[in-house]
Amino acid sequence: EKNGFDTFMLKEIHEQPRAYQDTMRGRINAGQEIVLPDIALTSAEVRQLKHIHLIACGTAYHAALIGKTVIERLTRIPVEVDLASEYRYRMPVIGENTLVIAVSQSGETADTLAAMRQAKYWGARVMAITNVIGSSVAREADDVLFTLAGPEIAVASTKAYSSQLIAFYLLGLYMAQSLKTLDDTAIAGLIAMLEKLPLQLVSMLRNMNPIRQVAERIAENDHLFFIGRGLDCSLAMEASLKLKEISYIHSEAYAAGELKHGSLALIEENTPVIALATQEELLEKTASNIKEVKARGAYVIALALEGCTGLEKVADQVIYVPRTHPLLTPALAVVPLQMLAYYAASFRGNDVDKPRNLAKSVTVE
Ligand code: M6R
Repeated sequence: EKNGFDTFMLKEIHEQPRAYQDTMRGRINAGQEIVLPDIALTSAEVRQLKHIHLIACGTAYHAALIGKTVIERLTRIPVEVDLASEYRYRMPVIGENTLVIAVSQSGETADTLAAMRQAKYWGARVMAITNVIGSSVAREADDVLFTLAGPEIAVASTKAYSSQLIAFYLLGLYMAQSLKTLDDTAIAGLIAMLEKLPLQLVSMLRNMNPIRQVAERIAENDHLFFIGRGLDCSLAMEASLKLKEISYIHSEAYAAGELKHGSLALIEENTPVIALATQEELLEKTASNIKEVKARGAYVIALALEGCTGLEKVADQVIYVPRTHPLLTPALAVVPLQMLAYYAASFRGNDVDKPRNLAKSVTVE
């Protein structure tokens, strides 16, 4: 049932174009408008919202970090993101017009479920973004926006994460329509780029050789850094978790601008630094952070947009990602990072689908 792939993880990485299509299907009307027939939240209710809180664990938390930026940029509604295991104990301020969104692939994560119940108890309306129909999170939420990624077997989450990004794009655009924060042309433009993502992914997946070479090089290292700004910083956190989880190489994700406030001390001759630089408006700043680590001896692998020429001179190696709208870029850029973790774990001879100490669904708090 691995469909010719060696592992479930590899199969699921390759299922992402399909997962994107399935998650979008029936939710885009004639390329012009988002329709979400499965959720009851009306346009009038969207207009009442004052705050949105996103709660999740692990990879779903990293998707929520991207979701925050997406929703805030598209709607101007303030969004907070919390780890589910922290949310309940910090006494969050929840008002009548707070929407809490629990994000969970399995829909059975104990921390997420507990945080969601607490939010309901405090009076919030609760929405779920989940991949499993009939799961506890789906049953207990007021509204459910399903990701339609299909069953995810590998412990390391891949297609569930990227489909959660798609769900956030759909939800953000749906809210923007209700709020009129974007005009029809801007919405249609974003929808067109959203619909192109699956094919862009297909062509990316055909050429993973450059990232395989990077993985071979880093597989020997004990620790490394991922750095980035803005959405690339959130994506760095996911890339780092994926690498740790299956390759057992220690890594840290850092906001590129924050390194010089302490962690730069850890950079030595040949420390690998994977610099995510896909957000063009932040490129110049990221490039100067790359120079900072290079000057301390780091070996820098940059991830940049196709056609970006500025980084070849500063990084040791550049991996390219196709162009789309900046908000959508993480849905493409995540793939080489998933493959990096995959190859590094394989080079080290690890069991990619069943990493040590971990379970697919974490049902204890
Ligand atoms: O099923 P969930 O999305 O609620 O799971 C949350 C985390 O346990 C999960 O994403 C975990 O971090 C993954 N193993 C990461 O690949």
